[in-house]
Amino acid sequence: MTRQAYVDGRFLPIAKARVAVEDRGYQFADGVYEVIKAVAGEPCDLDRHLARLERSLAALRIPVPMSMPALALVVREALARNPIRKAIVYLQVTRGVAPRNHLFPRDARPSLVITVRRAPFPSDRERAEGVAVLSLPDRRWGRCDIKSISLLANLLAKQEAAEAGCREAWLVDEAGRVTEGSASNAYIVDSEGRLVTHPLGPRILGGVTRSVILELAREAGIEVVERPFTLTEAKEAREAFLTSTTSLVLPVTRIDDRVVANGMPGGTTRRLARLYAERSGIPEAATGLRERRSIASCRG
Ligand code: PDD
Repeated sequence: MTRQAYVDGRFLPIAKARVAVEDRGYQFADGVYEVIKAVAGEPCDLDRHLARLERSLAALRIPVPMSMPALALVVREALARNPIRKAIVYLQVTRGVAPRNHLFPRDARPSLVITVRRAPFPSDRERAEGVAVLSLPDRRWGRCDIKSISLLANLLAKQEAAEAGCREAWLVDEAGRVTEGSASNAYIVDSEGRLVTHPLGPRILGGVTRSVILELAREAGIEVVERPFTLTEAKEAREAFLTSTTSLVLPVTRIDDRVVANGMPGGTTRRLARLYAERSGIPEAATGLRERRSIASCRG
């Protein structure tokens, strides 16, 4: 199968897809993006992703490239042209093409690129046994709520974590509090069984998965507390986990050189992982759930 990319109004084989050298995304990282999961051609939580895209664009004063209903159709068309059972859609909008100048160009049109590829979900083993994270200083800018393509601080952190044998970096602010991961949101379960995660605001990206997980937790009667937690608290927590579109719900069983609790994924984490897997139509290794097409519920 030849993968097809969408570039500014047309689909073409990915090897032939090109953007201009003066695209402001290329020269300034002047753009935003979304990563959307799809199972059997059906995008998960598309409305939430498009709503966040609109917010990111508005925050940077980049015009929308087309209406959100039209964009939803293009995403579905991209999935139809790239029939991959478990896929992720990468969607990027930049301020457009213009001679290099820090000031916003007056007449550039936003550029839109969409690609689809196989979803890099965690392995069954990672989902069943959990992963290690490395704590690092949060060196990002003050608007982490915008899903900007300017990700250098995130890349450096993730690379450092990987070189230390860890799946993710947990970023720690100047007060010793965990904000989020380099590409995921961070959670702990405290000694009272409460689910604790950093509140929304400029220090974190409001994850689509985060919004779903908090809903699922509340529906399941789990108390949710949106407050920052410290790295020390995390190391002493009963459970820890991370979430993202591509990582799903991933237990964290080691933070730096400290094993979390008994080193196995905790009950609340496993429960939320199962609920999220059921909702998304993705098999859950740890519970032996069979793959199902329960995708209708993940549209919201
Ligand atoms: N990353 N925080 C950061 C910094 C992220 O980059 C992401 C997602 C998340 C989780 O957001 P969501 O649940 O909407 O995926 C939190 C994507 C997957 C990426 O950059 O590939």
